[in-house]
Amino acid sequence: MKVVKNSKEMLRISSRIKESGKTIGFVPTMGYLHEGHISLIRRARRDNDLVVVSIFVNPIQFGPNEDYKKYPRNLRQDRKIARDKGCDIIFCPDAKQIYPKGYATRVKVSGLTSYMCGASRPGHFEGVTTVCAKLFNIVRPDIAYFGQKDYQQAVVITRMVKDLNMGLKIKTMPIVRERGGLAMSSRNEYLSPQQRRDAAALYESLKEAKKLIRSGCRESAGIKAAMRRMISKKPGIHIDYITIADPETLRSQNRLGAKSLIALAARIGRTRLIDNVLVDCE
Ligand code: PAF
Repeated sequence: MKVVKNSKEMLRISSRIKESGKTIGFVPTMGYLHEGHISLIRRARRDNDLVVVSIFVNPIQFGPNEDYKKYPRNLRQDRKIARDKGCDIIFCPDAKQIYPKGYATRVKVSGLTSYMCGASRPGHFEGVTTVCAKLFNIVRPDIAYFGQKDYQQAVVITRMVKDLNMGLKIKTMPIVRERGGLAMSSRNEYLSPQQRRDAAALYESLKEAKKLIRSGCRESAGIKAAMRRMISKKPGIHIDYITIADPETLRSQNRLGAKSLIALAARIGRTRLIDNVLVDCE
């Protein structure tokens, strides 16, 4: 497995791969790789001739009071995991490689970024789309892989790729969960054992929502109230939002549609967690 730190070198390598007619599968990450990332690497391995994983904790997608500085990092462990799972190239630039002196360009998707996490984390998605646009230009993937846990991120990036004719495919892969149901996230590392047990209430509330829907409930207010009741049994959890929304436009639905996204964000201590399920009411 090759480790590349320099953007120009990465672009040279990916251009050579493309000229040889081989396909590139790309898994963009901020590192601290877990089973969720591994599922993306495995899928990229299956679909493509070569697999590139990027590891870059992107400063511009964090707000001023967020966890950029303490975001978990372990490049040595990540390199081992990536190599063992079949990655061919790790691209791990530093911030100066991605945002050199004089850097002045941002990519912003409007509309979709005003809901859900976009409302509570101003500027976050602009940081994500900016770095992904850059990474796509440097790595030149045929397919890039994202996890459904960051559902809104995947929708926003898919929109950007379409709007800017970027010529790659975005594949969104299912959420991988811990044994207790908590969605895998590098931020789970911050949780104490008790907080980790409590955090399972988030997925329990999503399962409760699905149960209500299966029994015929279609009013969003009632479903969201039941989810809040369930989560409030754990006093350490503070809900940021619960939404039932159209999976494509992300606009909230008062009544469930043929397809709906049920998504939530919550804080446990200083840790912000997100989770979601897609439901089919047809
Ligand atoms: O999902 C993430 O880890 C990040 O938001 C991403 C897509 C790597 C961009 O920094």
